[in-house]
Amino acid sequence: MAKFIAQKRGISRYEGNKLNILGVETSCDETAAAVCTNGSILSNIISSQKIHQSFGGVVPELASREHERLLNSLVFQAIEEAGISLSSLEGIAVTKGPGLAGTLLAGVCFSKGLAQGLRIPVIGINHLEAHIFASFLENPNLTFPFVCLLVSGGHTQVWLINEIDNYELMGETRDDAAGEAFDKGARILGLGYPGGPEIEKLARNGNPKTIDFPKSFMKTNAIEFSFSGLKTSLLYYMDHFDESDGNISIEDVAASYQNAIIEVLIHKLKQTLEITHVKTCVIAGGVAANNQLRQKAHQMLPEISLSFPGLVYCTDNAAMVAFLGELKLKAGYTSPINFGVKPNLQLQV
Ligand code: KG4
Ligand code: ZN
Repeated sequence: MAKFIAQKRGISRYEGNKLNILGVETSCDETAAAVCTNGSILSNIISSQKIHQSFGGVVPELASREHERLLNSLVFQAIEEAGISLSSLEGIAVTKGPGLAGTLLAGVCFSKGLAQGLRIPVIGINHLEAHIFASFLENPNLTFPFVCLLVSGGHTQVWLINEIDNYELMGETRDDAAGEAFDKGARILGLGYPGGPEIEKLARNGNPKTIDFPKSFMKTNAIEFSFSGLKTSLLYYMDHFDESDGNISIEDVAASYQNAIIEVLIHKLKQTLEITHVKTCVIAGGVAANNQLRQKAHQMLPEISLSFPGLVYCTDNAAMVAFLGELKLKAGYTSPINFGVKPNLQLQV
């Protein structure tokens, strides 16, 4: 087994022969497969399920069936695009949680079956950890320790990442996640799902200063978030909103709402960086794809070495799963074949 060197400064180099790792991701509504070899992504296939659009959110049973329908062909497409053969795979990394029980099962059962057929190890991966480590794909020179703002559809957390397998939770949301705030806000505004990109598009032509939506915990030192009041405030605002008045446009509403989420995120991130005295920071997860968040973070954290995963590695993907799987396998870690899915899996603290 190759030996992973947990260097103090970074993870970018490790010993041993290169490994071809297949990654499989089915924690929610993206069916994804990717191949990673020696830290490089050779293929990255993602199919975002469209069947949920008319429901305004993910329907778990439909999502599981869709994964089952697509997995085989996506995995073989990933192998083909990577230019490798199935028999040259040395491990399969698959998301074991957190996520929807049924959708996780689809990916884990498929991966276990394939791994057993090929007689190679399977590695159960924590989806949150994979999001955080996706930052190394864009920035292989990223060094520990760093602060990570993890903002997705299910999580809003600030982590101090001291080293691989050494993580401290600095704060998180008390209620809705930032991505959830985007999704629920979009629903109130009559936009499609997922809501983040829809609100971002509309907000481009709006003035973010038009409406002063509530921003929780801005006046305290607590590293905590709360977005449920913001969403309710938008709901009440829209009850009385009449665009034909001519003063405020729907674009202004979207821009103000987006701005309220982003300001809180960056403010709390800044506080964490001050508390920890850490000068390196990454923002990861689906909401990290938001361009306004990226711009504002760069503006408001000029002293900080700030990086984001590439856009395709922010939202759910299997490249981040394969990448972390390779790191884990090189560190000597595999999962027993009877491991189960963990819908509420936390990141080890
Ligand atoms: O990481 P992710 O793909 O799935 C989870 O692990 O939850 O994140 C999905 C979330 C959704 O809530 C979606 O609305 C949000 O990320 N999102 C965005 C953008 N793209 C995706 N939010 C704001 N702006 C975006 N451009
Ligand atoms: Zn995710």
